[in-house]
Amino acid sequence: MYLTKEEERMLDGEEGYAVKKSMEILVALGNIYGAEKLIRVGSVQVAGVSYHNLGDAGLEFLNELAKDGKVRVLTTLNPAGMDLEDWKKLGISEEFAEKQNLVIDAFRKMGIIISCTCTPYLIGNLPRYGEHIAWSESSAVTFANSVIGAKTNREGGPSALAAAFVGKTPYYGLHLEENRVPDIHVDVRASLKKFSDWGALGYCIGKKVENKIPYITGIEAADLDELKSFCASVVTYGSKPLFYMKGITPGSEKHQPPKEQVTIEDKDIKEAYESINDDVEVIDFVCIGCPHSSIKEIAEIARLLRDKKISPNIEFWVATSRSMKQLADERSYTKIIEKAGGKFACDTCMAVAPLKGRFRSVATTSAKGCYYSRHNDMKTKLGSLEECIEAAVRGRWS
Ligand code: F3S
Repeated sequence: MYLTKEEERMLDGEEGYAVKKSMEILVALGNIYGAEKLIRVGSVQVAGVSYHNLGDAGLEFLNELAKDGKVRVLTTLNPAGMDLEDWKKLGISEEFAEKQNLVIDAFRKMGIIISCTCTPYLIGNLPRYGEHIAWSESSAVTFANSVIGAKTNREGGPSALAAAFVGKTPYYGLHLEENRVPDIHVDVRASLKKFSDWGALGYCIGKKVENKIPYITGIEAADLDELKSFCASVVTYGSKPLFYMKGITPGSEKHQPPKEQVTIEDKDIKEAYESINDDVEVIDFVCIGCPHSSIKEIAEIARLLRDKKISPNIEFWVATSRSMKQLADERSYTKIIEKAGGKFACDTCMAVAPLKGRFRSVATTSAKGCYYSRHNDMKTKLGSLEECIEAAVRGRWS
């Protein structure tokens, strides 16, 4: 890979340890994938924040980098393993909180914004169409590539961090226009009636297209929350982190539907629910906000929970960013949700919090949330917001 004089100096360690290590990571990646050079990035989103996933080895790696590492571009963080301010109410142990805070301290020292959300585009890290960025977190990467039209590979935590310290990323993969051409036409003939259908649709398409870029037709309208839910599930269940939705996402007008074609019908959506939903009635955890809830979703949760009481047997979380919670505070949505017995889980989520062994079954609006909850040994129920809230109030799935 070609390096400029300045990049060579960085690789030689003239700009310190963190930059040298980062250059080593970027050059190794570039060589593996045949990148011709590094390109500048407008922003970075760093995943791998939860101590639950990092452990002591990860914390040590971050502390080493934090000694002299400072990010050069706007850099935001993915969810951590706990609510950074109110972790006790979520049942997080002192030991875990202590370690998680050390992780956050290291990121803070590097100059990263402690945003702790997988929806950075809702809180100010919003790239422009066509901008090169280096993001990790699959749902955010898919949203950035597809809905915004920015260009990023699906970075891992270390390669995203390396891009932040250098301000550049290797020029390969989805940064190149020729690799952003759709290769399978997905004709959606199913009717999408409720919010969770978007997660189920992502499941169907992800499974059918298997690591290809889908060009999706047949969808008449989609709002931001529906698209973010779809982004999370389509990539979780198998597609590349890029799709085109005719008439809805940017760039779809530049392409024709590819020859290879699959269709999605109502029966596929039904089968998705059958495969995601376990045979379970009693629920002990309800979590909304995967990806993190927008203010519109929080408003809807508050509307549905007004004057209701969540069953005492249920732990109810609204996972969101702290910025979104502040808006919810101002609009009194927080009061309504907490009065009903719900909790805000800011800065964290159902996949990265240490939940293994705490709950037996979860109800959620998110197909991706179901996927990761199974890794935490939970039975899963995917349903609309109304169904999840009803389950929270009744303590059972009906
Ligand atoms: Fe976000 Fe966690 Fe879901 S990172 S997409 S809320 S699994």
